[in-house]
Parts: sequence; structure tokens; C-alpha cells
Amino acid sequence: MNKIVVIGAGTMGNGIAHTFAQYNYQVTLVDTSSTALESGMANITHNLDRMVQKEKITDKVKEQTLANLITATSLSKCVEDADLVVEAATENLDVKLAIFKELDNLCPEKSILASNTSSISITQIAAVTQRPEKVIGMHFMNPVPIMKLVEVIKGYSTSEEVLQEIMELSQKLQKEPVLVNDYPGFVANRILMPMINEAIETLYHGVAGVPEIDTVMKLGMAHPMGPLQLADFIGLDVCLSILEVLYRGFKNPKYAPCPLLVNMVRAGKYGVKSGEGFYNYSTSRKAEVVANQFKR
Ligand code: NAI
Repeated sequence: MNKIVVIGAGTMGNGIAHTFAQYNYQVTLVDTSSTALESGMANITHNLDRMVQKEKITDKVKEQTLANLITATSLSKCVEDADLVVEAATENLDVKLAIFKELDNLCPEKSILASNTSSISITQIAAVTQRPEKVIGMHFMNPVPIMKLVEVIKGYSTSEEVLQEIMELSQKLQKEPVLVNDYPGFVANRILMPMINEAIETLYHGVAGVPEIDTVMKLGMAHPMGPLQLADFIGLDVCLSILEVLYRGFKNPKYAPCPLLVNMVRAGKYGVKSGEGFYNYSTSRKAEVVANQFKR
């Protein structure tokens, strides 16, 4: 494997592209929005600078990583010799099905098609292609260059050979791959999202405020970050999409998204990426509580 195409330059896509490029793969980062590509590349450069400052990598590695990366706004030319495509576009079923249909038409037979989806069925995505045995889930965690886990999701038709290749590739990126089967939310979000949703319900019912809820979970449960702040980092729109997949997939009311989460997404309060969620990030990435916003 050498040529990697990453689709989507948002929170996850730029981190995935950065990581492959840092381990010397040739990476093309694709997004339909040139603004997203610009801010994705700016983010990669910023993160590499921080890694140099912290002496995690050398200046030479930073330069080599950037040299391994190119960008594109259309799939048509850049996938023709792709060994692997990792899709990290918006968490929306129709968007992903359209991308995989197009990829199946454009990519050579050898290409493995992976999705970084948080919750959408890999089997359903694979079914719109003529190569379901070569479709797999490669679920990286945020921030990708730092987090060790890759949840590798085996779809109903994913072949053993493709699975082994992706497990080995994850290790080459110095990650720890964990194999899971294809059911809604896989493992990570089936457990994480109900906790985040319950934290939002706790706020919605006025049991405690934002910093109090996060402090209980940080100091009481040794979580490095409170669930409300974590939701801001993941993106409240992404959290809502995942909960909707769990709710539909299991037909169980325990996964119903909290009305406060639904309202915040409707109001465009997506968390860090929009500048405001449960905390305000407009002046810096340092979280400040949004005063009185959540009183019922
Ligand atoms: P995001 O909203 O930050 O970025 C999505 C990007 O996809 C945008 O730049 C958008 O312009 C682009 N896009 C949309 N349609 C496209 C298309 N047809 N072709 C090319 N680009 C397209 O989303 P984020 O958070 O990076 O999520 C991406 C995927 O990663 C989702 O499936 C999400 O569930 C998953 N994920 C997200 C995590 C998180 O912490 N945010 C963690 C792990 C997985």
C-alpha cells in the first residue's frame, strides 16, 4: 500500500490524512469545499508545528509529511491508482452511499474502500458497490494523530484478506486496531453516545450545570474530559446523527436524542467547529461556559 485517498477534510479527514502522510504514504485529501481543504491543510500544519515544538517529531519529518500531501476537489482524477480510499465525509447515509457508488465506478479493482463512519452500517455502504468484500470500516478517533485506537469494522461481506491488510496497516500507523462486528454504533459509540446523551438530559432536566456535570465525570470517574466538552469536540451534529442511527437501528427509546441536543444542532451550535456548543470557543480553543444558556 502506498497511495491513499482521504475523502473529507473536516475534523477527522485532515487528521487521517496527516497520520498517513507522517508515516510516508502518498496522500490525496479530497473535499468538495475548497475552504474545507484550506482550513484542513492549515490545521495539519498547525498540528505538525505543535508536534515539533513538543519534540515529538523533527522539522524534517514535518517537511516530509507536508511533501507527502496533495489536495483535490474532485474524485475523478485522484483515485485512478489508489490502493486505499478512506472516506471521512459528513455523517449522512445518502452522502456516503453516493460517494461509495462513485468510488466503485472510478477506482481500480485493487482499491480497498474504507469508511471512517461513526455509526452507519458498513454492510449497507458495501451493498451499493460491486466489491462488498473490499469494503471495511476504519474508525479512527479524534484527534487522529494522537489517539491510539482504530476500531476496524468487518461488514457482512468483508473478506478475511482485506481485514488482515487493514489490521496490519493500522499497526504500521502505530495504532492499536480492534476488530468489531457491524452493528449500529459498533462498540465505541454504542457505549459513548448514550453517556453523552444522558449528560445532556441531566443538564436539560436542570440537575446541574455544564461545568458541574463535566467536573463530576472528570474528578469522579477519572475521565480526561467531561462528556459535554467531549460532545463539543466530536461535534454536536455528529453526536445527533449517531444517536439517530442507534435509535433507528435498535428501535429502542433509550437512544432517543435529547431535545436540547436537537435544538442546539438546529440553532447551528455544533461545538468547537462552529465556535459554540456547551462552551464558547470563539476567542480560543479554551472552553468558556456559555452563561445561563441551558436554564429551562
Ligand atoms: P466534518 O463535518 O468536520 O467534515 C466533513 C467534511 O466532509 C466537510 O469538510 C465536507 O465539506 C466534506 N464532504 C461532504 N460531502 C462530501 C463529498 N461528497 N465529497 C467530499 N467531501 C465531502 O465531519 P467529521 O467530524 O470530520 O466527520 C467525518 C466522518 O468521521 C463522519 O462519518 C463521522 O461520523 C466520523 N467520525 C467523527 C469523529 C469526530 O470526533 N468528529 C470521530 C470518529 C469518526
